[in-house]
Amino acid sequence: MIRETIIRSAVVDDIPTIVSLWRMLQETNALHDPYLTPGDGAEDWFREYLKAQMNGALGIFVALRDGEIVGYTFGQIVQRPTLAAGECGYVADLCVRPDARGLGLGRRLYERLRLWFHENGVHSIEVQVVRANPASQAFWRKMGFGEFLKTLRTEI
Ligand SMILES: CC(C)(COP(=O)(O)OP(=O)(O)OC[C@H]1O[C@@H](n2cnc3c(N)ncnc32)[C@H](O)[C@@H]1OP(=O)(O)O)[C@@H](O)C(=O)NCCC(=O)NCCS
Repeated sequence: MIRETIIRSAVVDDIPTIVSLWRMLQETNALHDPYLTPGDGAEDWFREYLKAQMNGALGIFVALRDGEIVGYTFGQIVQRPTLAAGECGYVADLCVRPDARGLGLGRRLYERLRLWFHENGVHSIEVQVVRANPASQAFWRKMGFGEFLKTLRTEI
């Protein structure tokens, strides 16, 4: 059966589904590293954040399969005032529902966000990858990313 897939900009009505995918992403990350367990109220905070940013400040895109949202990504332009580049694109989240993985939707979501960055004059894109998440590591390398900084952490 051929299933129709499309990538489009997110709208306010998509927020509940995006939030449920966001929760899945947080749960995945927390399984890989408990430090990433979301705090109480994180979901409400994220929902309100998305609502407030639906004015074009973020690039937010969803992947649909047969009319149903099965993935999303969002990113923002981050100021880097001390660098010659001045700013960069930052991929905040990208998640595809497990039953829709391996179909190229993750790549298409990223490519749509990359186009949004490009249209906004951005020429470098950063993403933070959970070290303990091998799928994420492999995916971003396939998207052409290479390491340039490492985030270190200690408990005090
Ligand atoms: C990582 C994730 C977004 C990939 O989505 P997807 O739709 O399955 O990816 P695609 O089908 O577009 O694959 C794109 C490429 O990445 C590779 N890839 C994807 N998942 C992979 C995995 N688990 N292991 C190795 N390579 C993988 C594919 O082989 C493909 O390579 P190709 O284009 O050379 O064939 C998805 O598995 C996911 O949502 N995971 C949980 C959340 C997460 O870790 N998100 C990323 C951090 S923000």
